[in-house]
Amino acid sequence: MTEKTDIRESTPDDVTGIEQLYPEAFPDEDLLPVVRELLAEGSTILSFVGTAEGAIVGHVIFTTCTVSGSPENVSLLGPLGVIPDRQKQGIGSALVRKGLERLKQEGTSVVFVLGDPAYYGRFGFATEDGVQPPYPLPEEWYGAWQSLSLSGDAMKLQGTLAVPKPWRQRALWVA
Ligand SMILES: CC(C)(COP(=O)(O)OP(=O)(O)OC[C@H]1O[C@@H](n2cnc3c(N)ncnc32)[C@H](O)[C@@H]1OP(=O)(O)O)[C@@H](O)C(=O)NCCC(=O)NCCS
Repeated sequence: MTEKTDIRESTPDDVTGIEQLYPEAFPDEDLLPVVRELLAEGSTILSFVGTAEGAIVGHVIFTTCTVSGSPENVSLLGPLGVIPDRQKQGIGSALVRKGLERLKQEGTSVVFVLGDPAYYGRFGFATEDGVQPPYPLPEEWYGAWQSLSLSGDAMKLQGTLAVPKPWRQRALWVA
């Protein structure tokens, strides 16, 4: 990562910068509504920004979720975005690692993500087949549903991921 990038938890003052990042990082997908709703939820999320010279260049959200029938604390990673001219400089990885470190300290046992295994595999995420996502995925996406155990034990949860309201939109899972 370039020396001038700082990774820190976001504050309400960052919302405008975060909102500017998403159309740039995801030109083909409108993630702003879910990002706004998640940021407004506050207590159920962890939100980190990457900043360079005062500007927000990367952002990630981790949402607290539950698995049906389990007392474990689990989290959903996403969205994760870095502005195009700062990609491939380690900012996305630094945001993910910062979040995983915090979640581990807080006692979260498993983190789930729907994303490219070629990217998330570098953090130790692997295909998840015990816990189902909130909506059935298209067959070609099965390998994209992944998890990472933070507890050290071979945690094998079974059930369905229960997500808070902002994530309860089928289009976010099958687009
Ligand atoms: C995906 C994204 C968050 C990665 O952030 P980043 O800061 O560019 O990533 P890092 O610098 O930490 O890591 C770069 C590495 O990830 C790889 N990479 C980046 N995006 C990737 C993707 N979608 N799939 C697989 N690998 C990817 C790069 O090729 C590079 O590989 P290398 O280390 O072997 O050279 C960023 O590229 C982005 O915002 N992309 C557009 C939005 C998006 O697709 N987000 C969803 C993530 S699944």
